[in-house]
Amino acid sequence: MVLLSKSDAGTREIGRRLGEKLKGGDVVALYGELGAGKTTMVKGIAAALGISERDITSASFTIIAEHHGAVPFYHIDLYRVAPGEVPDLGLDEYLGSRGIAVIEWAERAEGEIPDNSIRVRLSYAEENAREIDIQGIAL
Ligand SMILES: Nc1ncnc2c1ncn2[C@@H]1O[C@H](COP(=O)(O)OP(=O)(O)O)[C@@H](O)[C@H]1O
Ligand SMILES: [Mg+2]
Repeated sequence: MVLLSKSDAGTREIGRRLGEKLKGGDVVALYGELGAGKTTMVKGIAAALGISERDITSASFTIIAEHHGAVPFYHIDLYRVAPGEVPDLGLDEYLGSRGIAVIEWAERAEGEIPDNSIRVRLSYAEENAREIDIQGIAL
């Protein structure tokens, strides 16, 4: 399913709709370049799970942030992780736990993303528009 978001708020809303469909154990793999809207989408997903959007931040030093909403929510951001370091993170503890895991820059951990993950590819359409391709779940 391909959706067009015309604003930051539109992407949060798509994230919120996706978040409402998630259940414990789900993995959402987010793909797309810097500024594509991955973190913005995670804010919407978090909001649907009862977590404040303000608690969702871009990776500065935190690679794995754990939040406690209805179910454990793991926000993983590989932006600052070199591909060779990914195996050392122990991602399997989070991907395939009873919680919900979302992972930004999933392309950097492709071998560790479970086959049944929900895959979201975000790309620039225009300055404030993004194409959002969601595979593995219907909204
Ligand atoms: N339609 C849109 N969807 C998401 N972000 C948008 C959109 N239009 C403009 N933006 C801006 O693009 C940036 C996206 O940043 P962010 O979500 O942190 O991206 P990423 O995590 O993919 O690097 C924000 O500054 C946001 O305000
Ligand atoms: Mg980000």
